[in-house]
Amino acid sequence: MKAIPRIAVLISGRGSNLGALLAAERAGRLGGTIAVVISNREDAGGLQLARTHGVATEVIDHQRLDRRSFEAKLDAGLDVAACDLVVLAGFMRILTSEFVQRYAGRMINVHPSLLPAFGGLYTHRRALAEGVRIHGCTVHFVTPDLDHGPIIAQGALAVLPSDDEQSLSARVLAIEHRLLPAATRAFCEGRLVIAGQAVRVEGEVPGITTPEVPALP
Ligand code: GRF
Repeated sequence: MKAIPRIAVLISGRGSNLGALLAAERAGRLGGTIAVVISNREDAGGLQLARTHGVATEVIDHQRLDRRSFEAKLDAGLDVAACDLVVLAGFMRILTSEFVQRYAGRMINVHPSLLPAFGGLYTHRRALAEGVRIHGCTVHFVTPDLDHGPIIAQGALAVLPSDDEQSLSARVLAIEHRLLPAATRAFCEGRLVIAGQAVRVEGEVPGITTPEVPALP
């Protein structure tokens, strides 16, 4: 029998995406098991969530370590947990290209914009300021080029005239919560093939091969 893929989830904050992954695992639709949750911040709310679900946690405080030692500890933590996939779910540290390359093809990230638009921070604020009509989120493989890795999945929504940063962020987050578990499952089932800058998805994966897009008025 094939072993169940082991997943490490890296977080920095409240952990609502982690919550979506845990819920998917519980419902038997994650395709893998969350073996460890690692945070670079002791006060990350997601840590408590992981503990409540009986998942091992580790804190590696970036403020107490230089970059090299931080990544060495991260590497060791991932090694101990023998993870097949690393999921960055609101992990707010930039990783060196050396580190990223070690996890090439087995590290994914959820980003709150329709990449390649609005990489980096404050994506909702910037989307509103630019007046885009369509906004959303992306799950992608992580490469040394920040927020530019091969795209696995995207979900979009229409920006409403009444939207502010908070409402937009909440509605995008709801899509993230569907997209990240779906992308994780597709990875665990071996359906994602990186082809240059793009990702080929083998078979039908709801939410990915048929993405969420805004309905026509
Ligand atoms: C999400 O919007 C994610 O896309 C971004 O940071 C936020 C993390 O939220 N990178 P949470 O910690 O998963 O609730």
